[in-house]
Amino acid sequence: MKLKRYILAMFLAVGAVPAFAEGNDGLLSGETMNYIGYGTIVAMLLLFIGVMLVLLRTFKTLTRILLGPEDLKEAEEEKLAAKSQRKATRGNLVNKLMSLRPMSEEGSLIMEGEYDGIKELNNPTPAWFMVLFYVTIAFGVGYLLVYHVFKSAPLQYEEYRNDMAAAAKEKAAMLAKSANLVDENTVKLTTDPAVLANGKSVFTTRCAPCHGDHGQGVVGPNLTDDYWLHGNTIKDVFKTIEYGVPSKGMPTWESQLTPVQISDVANYVKSIHGTNPANPKEPQGTKMTEAGPAAPAPKTAMKIK
Ligand code: HEC
Repeated sequence: MKLKRYILAMFLAVGAVPAFAEGNDGLLSGETMNYIGYGTIVAMLLLFIGVMLVLLRTFKTLTRILLGPEDLKEAEEEKLAAKSQRKATRGNLVNKLMSLRPMSEEGSLIMEGEYDGIKELNNPTPAWFMVLFYVTIAFGVGYLLVYHVFKSAPLQYEEYRNDMAAAAKEKAAMLAKSANLVDENTVKLTTDPAVLANGKSVFTTRCAPCHGDHGQGVVGPNLTDDYWLHGNTIKDVFKTIEYGVPSKGMPTWESQLTPVQISDVANYVKSIHGTNPANPKEPQGTKMTEAGPAAPAPKTAMKIK
């Protein structure tokens, strides 16, 4: 029965709607309202269709009751005739698309000439195939123009290079970001001239007023001698600069310098140790030798015995 099929289709449609909705973004709280509204519209549509179907049924039954048996028979015959007509046109359509002729017309297709008693039928290539063929030619021309003549779209290798360049850029950005993540636990002692130069420029602008141009000490302690208040390892120095000693007049630099700048200036402070500048401030704190991790030892060639 057709009605049953309609009902089944309706249920499938109702089932498919939430599946699509969920596939999109899931049921986020903000979207729940949309989802409910959507469902309501679909439900109302289905209700409407259902009511129309019921009305149609009722109407049909009523006509059957109202019309006499004679009229019914006539109507039935008309219906059958229309059905066979439809079938015939459908057959024609298929034949046309496949460039087929009905068997009854085969005689007219026989070509002249006979080879050892074998005759040929003139069956041209089906229209759908020719259409496909011409479409491929048109596509080929379009492809050639786009990719090789006007070069309006990148070819495979170019696309690959573009992607790699974009990835390299992303990688560089990532590395720059992770380099900025240095803290008092990961800071490394280095003698890299670039780092020290950078640290020196930070020192001159930010630290010299209190520690002196050469770290000899003014308000702040001498940073070049062996005496330290807060430790002399690179980690200690980094920590002192980052958090400062606010109660004693050493500012906190955490919010004014980036972690990399702090690391650079800490390395610069370590590098000026023992430079004996003029007019040094008197020692403060306890005397410390290079107790902290020493600067990376110069690489020596491996001895092969
Ligand atoms: C406003 C003045 C002032 C500025 C600016 C300043 N400092 Fe200091 N700094 C001090 C004082 C004062 C102390 C001593 C703190 C204490 O007595 O505990 C100190 C201590 C230190 C110490 C610890 C020394 C030790 O003996 O342990 C380091 C390292 C240091 N400063 C580095 C820096 C660096 C690097 C900068 C620039 C980014 C800087 N300071 C900027 C005033 C300053």
